[in-house]
Amino acid sequence: MDYYDKIEELKRQDLLRSVKDRDCRTGRTITIAGREFLNFSSNDYLGLASNPVIVRAAQNALMDFGHGAGASRLLSGGTSLHAMLEDKTASFKGADKAVMFNSGYAANTGAIPALTDAHCAIFSDALNHASIVDGCKLSAAKKYIYKHNDLNHLETLLRKSQNPPTNTFVITESVFSMDGDVADIYNLHMLCRKYDTVLYIDDAHATGVLGNGKGALAHFNVTPDNNIIQMGTYSKSLGSVGGFVAASEAVIDYLFNTARSLIYSTALPASAAAASLAAIDYVVAHPELISRLRGNITACRRMLLSKEFSVSMDLTPIIPIVLDSTVETLRISGRLLDSGIYVPAIRPPTVKTPRLRISISASHEQADIAHLANALAEARK
Ligand SMILES: Cc1ncc(COP(=O)(O)O)c(C=O)c1O
Repeated sequence: MDYYDKIEELKRQDLLRSVKDRDCRTGRTITIAGREFLNFSSNDYLGLASNPVIVRAAQNALMDFGHGAGASRLLSGGTSLHAMLEDKTASFKGADKAVMFNSGYAANTGAIPALTDAHCAIFSDALNHASIVDGCKLSAAKKYIYKHNDLNHLETLLRKSQNPPTNTFVITESVFSMDGDVADIYNLHMLCRKYDTVLYIDDAHATGVLGNGKGALAHFNVTPDNNIIQMGTYSKSLGSVGGFVAASEAVIDYLFNTARSLIYSTALPASAAAASLAAIDYVVAHPELISRLRGNITACRRMLLSKEFSVSMDLTPIIPIVLDSTVETLRISGRLLDSGIYVPAIRPPTVKTPRLRISISASHEQADIAHLANALAEARK
């Protein structure tokens, strides 16, 4: 295979990706190649990644436990901090028990194939994240894709799959990572109860954002039960690194025994667990941070609507501006860079329709958001 030819082909289609590394902490602004930009590209929605309280917690653990974990969790890679984080995650999510993974990607690609076998059926939303898609590919279960957020279509598929009877799983993101819309978790839960189906929720972008930070179940007033599995990450609003699954004791004990991405990979360092622990405590102790994020989200969506961009009023920090073509998306992203604003262009195969993906943070100022809206309106001309 000639990879140079493949790279040339990607270039021809305006699909070649390049890495933009920072020279600084992540935050309201970032510096890339010596130039400072207002940062609308980060999932650090609460600005916790550089928060001194959280950085200090990681520093202290680094001094106490050293850097590398040295082994996988099931050997000697874990520490008391890993176990404390799992306990805290379980109570934060209202679940019996939780298990930590090295990333959200590792959580989905580990948990989904471990929990499902050839006797199971998985019903997955058409816009689910690549880590769910890959987890499903690794599973021996029969797979059905339902139209995005379409509960009628899901029910039609669920009805068809009742014969022969199987163990069924509905898998959805709660806040969709590229569209910023919210799955109807309340009615999904009702449907799952009707069909005796497990509901597996990827709460990556709802944790720290919805339901006072506890995520989608709290937002929709749904009480966790044995048929609900909550997956999430520490890497977005919690400003840290790692993924988790929170569920019944049986599910978590089974994952400790069967999830390959957990068993066959070196554990995260204790400093990562310490930072995530401190971040959960910080979110609980500082509800004003989520209020500030919400104010920024509403302000940004309103400003964009006033400039006639087609955006929803969802309460989520991911605001897509869907455009006609990849060329146009790259052009506008480039114009924004010229105005000192970094909004990444998201292209196929990550999404079907190219878009600018604006990420709002509690660390933004109102003036930053006004500058973004004005620059976008200018760039569109
Ligand atoms: C919905 C969703 N699930 C899972 C992940 C993976 O999480 P992590 O970045 O911690 O690997 C992401 C991150 O992009 C995501 O958006």
